[in-house]
Amino acid sequence: MVDAILGLQWGDEGKGKIVDFFAPQYDVIARFQGGPNAGHTLYVGDKKIVLHQIPSGVFHQKTVNLIGNGVVLDPVTLKRECETVASFGVDVKKNLFISQRTNLILPTHRALDKASELQKGIDKIGSTLKGIGPAYMDKTGRNALRVGDLLDKSFTTSYIRLRLKHQRLLDNFNFQEDISAWEEEFFEAIEFLKELNIVNGEYFINNKISEGKKVLAEGAQGSMLDIDFGTFPFVTSSNTTTAGICSGLGIAPQKIRDVMGVTKAYCTRVGGGPFPTELTDNTGEELRRLGNEFGATTGRPRRCGWIDLVALKFACMINGVTKVIMTKADVLDKFEELNVCTSYKIDGEESEIIPFQMTRHKIEPMLKSFAGWNSDSTSVKNFSDLPEKMKTYVDFINKYVGTNVSHISNGPGRDQIVEVK
Ligand code: GDP
Ligand code: IMO
Ligand code: MG
Repeated sequence: MVDAILGLQWGDEGKGKIVDFFAPQYDVIARFQGGPNAGHTLYVGDKKIVLHQIPSGVFHQKTVNLIGNGVVLDPVTLKRECETVASFGVDVKKNLFISQRTNLILPTHRALDKASELQKGIDKIGSTLKGIGPAYMDKTGRNALRVGDLLDKSFTTSYIRLRLKHQRLLDNFNFQEDISAWEEEFFEAIEFLKELNIVNGEYFINNKISEGKKVLAEGAQGSMLDIDFGTFPFVTSSNTTTAGICSGLGIAPQKIRDVMGVTKAYCTRVGGGPFPTELTDNTGEELRRLGNEFGATTGRPRRCGWIDLVALKFACMINGVTKVIMTKADVLDKFEELNVCTSYKIDGEESEIIPFQMTRHKIEPMLKSFAGWNSDSTSVKNFSDLPEKMKTYVDFINKYVGTNVSHISNGPGRDQIVEVK
């Protein structure tokens, strides 16, 4: 049996905290897509940790963690992160497993990402510059090197061949930076990676399922960054939606039970691309300040706006969401008035549909206003003690999207989460 936790917006919904919260109920936590572009924040005691490659269940003794074949893996980030979690007493040799089929991010992928973004100029995606796009291009282009290849003696030759190919592309971009230091780190890190548990991920996970173990698939990025259904081309390069679980882990669709979709009580986006409910005024600034909305991977200020129910309903449909988890409700504690977007005016015509593409149209959000609850919700533990106005707000969202909010997160801490009853 497999459940999933994934993002319903443009990423950074608080997936890391939610996975960490539910992890004790599962035996295996598995990442199925994305790579070090992800930044999943969680707290161990009062220590803040941001995970990029390792699944967010790693701090729970009884769960094992799998990096699935759908992930792109940067050995340098992985090594650094393993060292961080080891300083908390986590034994990655015991509880971290990596699929042989996971594709590697090479130093030249990072260089290509940078070169491509520079060439795009003002039209750039605003990528995290972690080499994600180029690494997935090599996967679909059938050139990539995979974790299992590390164990083969032909690895260095294959690396040199691919590197040469990349160099020609970099020359075309007129990219001049010296990346020899990156390569040095990379070769050091692959020696480290070889010592970890490299497994046949699809058998590993299916055997666990057959033994009756519970698996939690952890999404990265968000549904509106999905390569197929997101705001293309301002998206990432993988399927961030439920479908990605099957191809990213080797799991059959009928094994998937609950799909827990995470949304903030408002909305953020980092990087370029359409964001219909974005607030570029003082209210947006307040959301950023109160929500501490700065990227966990790049430190960039996140763009902030009201919750977009058109996009949220679309994300619930694409993912087959069975439960919605609302995070950062406490960030709205101080607002007199709240708004939710219930439809778009697309080139003057009202619509509740996410259009084929959003950049070539003028999209105006149609807003419904709510009274803010104006009280501190951060120490509430029971649903009955949450402000009535918050319940009205959540109730409207439930009705609009047709799926109910099951948990409301009211602070970054592990214990700051309220079950809806
Ligand atoms: P992820 O990428 O989806 O895991 O989310 P990030 O870690 O990038 O960003 C979420 C941020 O919000 C982190 O700094 C979390 O510590 C914080 N956070 C998560 N849930 C809550 C919440 O309910 N309230 C507040 N105030 N912060 C939260
Ligand atoms: P988590 O898992 C927010 C965004 C980038 C950029 C676009 C493409 O922490 O929610 P990429 O590096 O993937 O080629 O960048 O996607 N992006 C994210 N935004 N959270 C993330 O991950 C993101 N991962 C990528 O900012 O706009
Ligand atoms: Mg994040």
